[in-house]
Amino acid sequence: MTIVAPSILSADFARLGEDVRTAERIGADWIHIDIMDGQYVPNLTFGPPIVAAIRSCTSLPFDVHLMVNTPEKLLDDLKRAGADRITVHAEACLHLHRTIHAIRELGLKAGVALNPHTPLSVLDYVLEDIDLALIMTVNPGFGGQSFIPAMLPKIRELRSRLDAKGLTDVHIEVDGGINAETAALVKQAGANALVAGNYIYGSDDPLAAVASLRSASVE
Ligand code: DX5
Ligand code: ZN
Repeated sequence: MTIVAPSILSADFARLGEDVRTAERIGADWIHIDIMDGQYVPNLTFGPPIVAAIRSCTSLPFDVHLMVNTPEKLLDDLKRAGADRITVHAEACLHLHRTIHAIRELGLKAGVALNPHTPLSVLDYVLEDIDLALIMTVNPGFGGQSFIPAMLPKIRELRSRLDAKGLTDVHIEVDGGINAETAALVKQAGANALVAGNYIYGSDDPLAAVASLRSASVE
């Protein structure tokens, strides 16, 4: 089953609560929340207080994507704000293994994000410790960028490594430039969780957009 996670980065921040409710109404599975610090990525969004503010707008799980340096400093506040899953970037963690376990010790699901240039090998010794691997299909920082096709073999290789180890519960999430066409490609390559910002929130028919991601397949 494909998981669809609308990214509220593309929502209208002036009516964020409404746009979060919309995501639930149109059949989303998770709410994808992009936290950026203006240092790790060249953009700045919001922090735990905003996450806490929208917690009452939906019962869907909060899939928090931390594009910040020293993400370990935010974990307690994000747990209190209502995060369910927290994904950190491999390069943003001096001690990735420690941070993954800190997330899990809070009772949350732990993910690791890989930038387009980041090799899968950063996951070699933590594959058994994570709930999700996020393959960035654009360079992180902004919504509305174009999908990087060179990520398809990376997704395929990760799926085969997970299969070989029997780690079938680990999600492969993709983020960046996902629409009905690219969704079909990443699903075929082995991704099972799709983040989409612009494609959903920029659509005249967000309900149809979510449905098209769910049903996308290569002819
Ligand atoms: C980018 C963010 C994404 C972003 C995706 O750094 O991590 O979640 O919102 O936006 P689209 O789907 O518009 O490429
Ligand atoms: Zn994201």
